[in-house]
Amino acid sequence: MTSVPRTAPTDSLGRRLAYLRLSVTPACTFRCVYCLPDGSGSRSSGRPLTVREIGRLLAGFAGIGLGKVRLSGGEATTRSDFAEIIRTAAHTPGIRTVALTTNGYRLERNARIWRQAGLATLNVSVDSLNRETFARIAGVDHLHQVLGGLEAALEAGFERVKINTVLLKTVNDREVGAFLNLARDRPLDVRFIELMRTHDNAAFFERHHLRADTLVRQLEELGWVRQGRAFDDGPARVYTHPDSRGRVGIIAPYSRDFCTACNRVRVTATGELRLCLFGTEGVSLRPYLQEDRQRPLLQHTVLRSLALKPAGHRLASGDSGVTDHLASIGG
Ligand code: 5AD
Ligand code: SF4
Repeated sequence: MTSVPRTAPTDSLGRRLAYLRLSVTPACTFRCVYCLPDGSGSRSSGRPLTVREIGRLLAGFAGIGLGKVRLSGGEATTRSDFAEIIRTAAHTPGIRTVALTTNGYRLERNARIWRQAGLATLNVSVDSLNRETFARIAGVDHLHQVLGGLEAALEAGFERVKINTVLLKTVNDREVGAFLNLARDRPLDVRFIELMRTHDNAAFFERHHLRADTLVRQLEELGWVRQGRAFDDGPARVYTHPDSRGRVGIIAPYSRDFCTACNRVRVTATGELRLCLFGTEGVSLRPYLQEDRQRPLLQHTVLRSLALKPAGHRLASGDSGVTDHLASIGG
């Protein structure tokens, strides 16, 4: 059996894996045009992992050196036991950071509770600051609640809150300045995400895909400067500006260095290990999450699979693997 390393494991290409993205449910309350325009969960089958299964999963990953978990969905916070999931993750020895990606809809009411439960950092998706445009993209008229959630998060003491914005040609691409203004005087980072093509959004993608290079040029003209990245950072290229408290991140999945810098693995809501966002296969970990004493077997399975993490996705050639939409595997 493989011996269990204490530092972060590496894959066959020497990429050090620092970071687990765990979807805790495929369900979502929004219907974002590029993700779940018809509502969520229709094709997703199987019961999501229970809190106990999640606890065992995280203990296993922490034991092989993955110290950071990002909870995601669908919309993670639709689970009624979500605070308990945070608590379980935060109390797992070896897990140093519990992060959340959310659509922000339940944030206003829960920011304080989640922080007390042990949540360390927070990414909130906000695709527009204009009420009509927001509703057009998200399929629900909830901009007001989401912005209230951002305020509540800052008040609850989250040191930095990140906003995720998927840039869409002719829909919200004129709002770059408005987002930069929002972050200027506050500890908010804005991360612009280049639209990714999935199995379900091909026609939408053709109409609204905007290349990240266009934005990079725009930022550089405005005096933004690119920073280096830390080992367990996410996939964003980070820019700072002397006049702005908030930073800007660019997530450019079609750029050459996106996959070579990948330090993440994913687990779906039903416990499938996915080595790549757009991979073609998954390994079910659920059978190894039924008893605490299965941990060595779980770790062995994960380590053996990591060796198979692909060098990169084939998005550029129009291949989205088995990914119908990102709600199925947690963004
Ligand atoms: N392309 C880019 N970003 C996407 N997200 C969901 N689907 C896509 C896609 N096809 C983003 C959401 C959210 C994060 C979890 O993933 O907007 O910010
Ligand atoms: Fe829900 Fe996020 Fe998909 Fe929007 S992008 S529908 S908020 S899972």
